[in-house]
Amino acid sequence: LARVQGLLSQLTSHDRVIFDELIGAEVAAMDGGAQKVTLRGPRGVRLRSSTVQILAMALHELATNAIKYGALGQPDGRLVISWSLVEAGDDGRPWLTIDWRESGVSIPPLDTRPDWKGQGRGLVERALPYQLGARTTFVIETGGVHCTISIQVSDTKA
Ligand SMILES: Nc1ncnc2c1ncn2[C@@H]1O[C@H](COP(=O)(O)OP(=O)(O)O)[C@@H](O)[C@H]1O
Ligand SMILES: [Mg+2]
Repeated sequence: LARVQGLLSQLTSHDRVIFDELIGAEVAAMDGGAQKVTLRGPRGVRLRSSTVQILAMALHELATNAIKYGALGQPDGRLVISWSLVEAGDDGRPWLTIDWRESGVSIPPLDTRPDWKGQGRGLVERALPYQLGARTTFVIETGGVHCTISIQVSDTKA
């Protein structure tokens, strides 16, 4: 988190944050992340200033969960984070679709899992849609979490 906060605080305003730099900082801050995490997507996608902080928080919650319950805390766990840019429709701004897919995770049976409604899911499933107009999904599949986040991004290149 310190590194992510460092990246955010270096910027006097949040109007020059590039998605691959943000996700790169988050992954670098994960313990052992380098071996387990694959990043795949175009460079230079510029985030809207209004989205940076809450998106960074959501990614950090996903990473924390992956360490506590998921791919980054289990020996066979892997995490692929891929993203793509979807060109703008009539509303003018392109969308960034982020796909967070964990695998190799052994998931406890439904009836032994702790309470579902924590901060991580709350941020992804409620805060991002309400505050950013994002489209999100969060599913715990057999081999691990699969989460998608689509947000509108700046229409100017980095
Ligand atoms: N990456 C993950 N792998 C496996 N289970 C997960 C993962 N992320 C979340 N979960 C499950 O979903 C629950 C809710 O997560 P979250 O909303 O972040 O709340 P909290 O972390 O406070 O428990 C967790 O308690 C855990 O059971
Ligand atoms: Mg959590």
